[in-house]
Amino acid sequence: MMTIRIWDLPTRLFHAAFALSVTGAILSAKLGDTWMDWHVRLGITAFALVLFRILWGLAGPRYVRFSQFVKSPAATWKYFKAQASQPYKSAGHNPLGAWSVVAMLLIIGFQATTGLFANDEILTQGPLAQFVSEAGSSLMTGLHQWNATWVYVIIGLHLLAVLVYTFKGQQLVLPMINGDVPATRLAPQTQSARDDLVVRLGALVLAVALAILAWWLIQLANNAGSTF
Ligand code: HEM
Ligand code: HEM
Repeated sequence: MMTIRIWDLPTRLFHAAFALSVTGAILSAKLGDTWMDWHVRLGITAFALVLFRILWGLAGPRYVRFSQFVKSPAATWKYFKAQASQPYKSAGHNPLGAWSVVAMLLIIGFQATTGLFANDEILTQGPLAQFVSEAGSSLMTGLHQWNATWVYVIIGLHLLAVLVYTFKGQQLVLPMINGDVPATRLAPQTQSARDDLVVRLGALVLAVALAILAWWLIQLANNAGSTF
């Protein structure tokens, strides 16, 4: 069967790492106590992954670029009305899915950013909390707690959407794992995404730079202990 590469390897690895680190950050926060060390590590990893995806959305291959998949509200509405009658044949995120990608990056990005300044008034604080006032850190902690609900909502909607498409017979999960979509499910002459060594090395350089940033933030958090 002819297939077309849609999701490049870096994007697929990003997705797996993002799902694992966000899930881990939620679980460790719920377990609390000494698990908060893991919350800081996994939360900072999720923060670095959001930065990766934003930069990858500007410089990465065709179907992961924001300019390729973010459509106007009018076009999104048109898609929403039409999708019941005709299957979507354009490659990459559909217009509705595209907005959920943006929402996930914004909501989870906000969660991770406020976390950097948060503190639990016991042992744990974000690496940047020491640079703001106590009131500032409390404000960020409040926002971090408030936004957690939206993190659950957006992840719930994401999983629900994936489930609904799967039941409707549109396989989305496999392509997010192996990168490929059968050509019969796409419009004729659909172009494949670049996923060669140059693309992968570019992503690796970006990932290493962001891993250094994450490592530095984790050290900063460890050394800060709790100053509140
Ligand atoms: C905490 C958990 C998860 C988070 C935060 C998350 C986040 C995301 C993000 C940000 C994207 C956009 C990918 C990109 O363009 O870079 C995406 C796409 C996708 N995710 Fe997840 N994901 C999670 C869990 C899962 C799980 C468990 C599955 C499968 C069972 C899944 C299936 C998919 C699929 C199929 C797509 C592609 C949708 C499309 O074709 O437009 N995700 N996810
Ligand atoms: C995507 C990433 C993150 C998620 C999903 C997340 C989620 C959560 C959740 C659900 C809570 C518990 C809120 C409650 O039930 O009261 C929490 C608390 C906390 N998080 Fe995060 N977090 C993330 C990133 C971070 C980061 C990067 C840091 C700091 C490095 C951080 C530091 C904290 C602290 C200090 C608390 C305790 C605040 C309190 O006392 O309620 N978080 N986080």
